[in-house]
Amino acid sequence: MTEKKNTLPSSRKVTTQSLLRMKGRGERITALTAYDYLMGELLDQAGIDVILVGDSAAMTIQGRHTTVSVTLEQMIYHAEVVAHGVERALVVADLPFMSYQVNPDEGLRNAGRMIKEAHVEAVKLEGGEKIAPTIRRIVDAGIPVMGHLGLTPQSIHKFGTYQVRATSKGEADEIRRDVVALQEAGAFAVVLEKIPAELGAEASKLVDVPTIGIGAGAGCDGQILVTHDMLGLYTKFHPRFVRRYAQLGEMMREAFERYAQDVKSGDFPSEDESY
Ligand code: KIV
Repeated sequence: MTEKKNTLPSSRKVTTQSLLRMKGRGERITALTAYDYLMGELLDQAGIDVILVGDSAAMTIQGRHTTVSVTLEQMIYHAEVVAHGVERALVVADLPFMSYQVNPDEGLRNAGRMIKEAHVEAVKLEGGEKIAPTIRRIVDAGIPVMGHLGLTPQSIHKFGTYQVRATSKGEADEIRRDVVALQEAGAFAVVLEKIPAELGAEASKLVDVPTIGIGAGAGCDGQILVTHDMLGLYTKFHPRFVRRYAQLGEMMREAFERYAQDVKSGDFPSEDESY
């Protein structure tokens, strides 16, 4: 394993408070997802501010069509191995579907498990005003909470589609109310997913806490992508908000094919690769 080294000038630990200060001075926040130790370590070495152990693990790691099936135990496992590889970034873990929706007590109990067993520093919950009492309860217990509005994937069966949200006045007004409700409930940041850019910018101005956009335009205080999407590892679909920074899936397939050819032909292992 390579030695840990941050490439950013400042290697100071990122906290919920430093994110707030970043918004205050107009410094954009970087965030990406991770599901394992190595990815967490690489993102941290690259100076990414926030590492989210997303329930997108259901799709990127488990190959499911939605995020709803991943369990709390599985999320705790992923979160624990990611946190183990990270020194500087703030590590946030998703509370999965049905681990906090029943009532605030259950939400608090499960948020507590995530903090104690996985050693992450914050949890993320989806939803607006309706989930605010649960967020308040978790925050009051000393656990930082990140909110998530717009296209909330745990509600995909209600939406029926992954299309852009809040294009109607009613739903846009709901986002405006929800972002304020989350801040009032104590959330330290809010993810805004797949909403019009103008609304993303407006919602970001309505609150002091930072917004982290994914398909919510350049007016958000930070940006997040699913790492497997931006690396070209997960290619089942390609939403227009995903910028591909690499084609790792293709590179890996090619490497596996070359290895197979070398073994079949007897070219690998060579004398140099033998004892
Ligand atoms: O699960 C996830 O990866 C997320 C991001 C898309 C924000 O919630």
